[in-house]
Amino acid sequence: MSRVALITGGAQGLGAAAAKRLLNDGFTGILLLDRNAERLAREAAALSKLGNIKTLACDLADAATPANAIATCVQEFGRIDLLFNAAGNTARGAISDVNSSTYEGLFNVNVKAPLSLMQEAAKVMKRQKSGTIINVSSMIAYGGKPSLAAYSASKAALNALSKHAAQEFAWDGIRTFVIALGWALTEGEIAVQAALGLPADWAQSNGAEMPSGRLISPEDIADLVAYLCSPSAQMMNGAIIDFEQMPQGMFRQHPALKSSA
Ligand SMILES: NC(=O)c1ccc[n+]([C@@H]2O[C@H](COP(=O)([O-])OP(=O)(O)OC[C@H]3O[C@@H](n4cnc5c(N)ncnc54)[C@H](O)[C@@H]3O)[C@@H](O)[C@H]2O)c1
Repeated sequence: MSRVALITGGAQGLGAAAAKRLLNDGFTGILLLDRNAERLAREAAALSKLGNIKTLACDLADAATPANAIATCVQEFGRIDLLFNAAGNTARGAISDVNSSTYEGLFNVNVKAPLSLMQEAAKVMKRQKSGTIINVSSMIAYGGKPSLAAYSASKAALNALSKHAAQEFAWDGIRTFVIALGWALTEGEIAVQAALGLPADWAQSNGAEMPSGRLISPEDIADLVAYLCSPSAQMMNGAIIDFEQMPQGMFRQHPALKSSA
């Protein structure tokens, strides 16, 4: 039986790790979408040893991309079983300084593009009477540091749309999920932290502060993606999964206090 995924942000990080895991799990075709054509070609060449990979180099900020992506997936593989929206815009902007260009960029890529992709994918999944949609959001959707205000709002909007998609498509055999991601060590995050000027060992030192002693890896997320689109998760729909080691609101006590104080 053929199983097909469309993965946005497939050139690296979460998208690439999920593609690898799904091919190893028996997915028969994957369309990887990314705006970075060079990295996309490189990743696709590596993954093609595991299975049938097609690529689409385009920008999700372009309004024509979502419909084109779903049409390409159907043209190449005849169906779509998983839409994994991993690509995201992580631009900074606080309440006091966010400008309309940053705001629009965030909402175009983090809200409008996933909405259009869900609309177009649902048409195909309804015909199949099956499908899984997984949108990558963030723990920051619940609030965070000031510079992430506009990003937070865009991910909160994605959470809301995903909850509604889960409800709207439930009777069509389509299940929709959100991964509210915590701090993950991806190529994208490495680039962000380098641009912010953090020292080269930031991932090790910040990871050491975590309960597990490390940051989340793309492979950790790939495990969850594989589970959510498997028969084992058929009884789940609409969950926003907080994929983070530090629950919302958690803070580290002073070592002098007992852990329950
Ligand atoms: N890394 C983290 O700590 C973290 C935390 C919370 C949420 N997230 C979310 O995880 C997802 C992955 O982000 P990441 O920074 O870890 O990067 P990543 O390393 O997983 O790569 C993201 C990929 O998306 C592609 N992409 C970005 N914008 C695009 C666009 N407009 N059109 C097409 N492709 C585009 C990039 O080229 C890149 O290849 C995003 O949705 C982000 O908001 C990340």
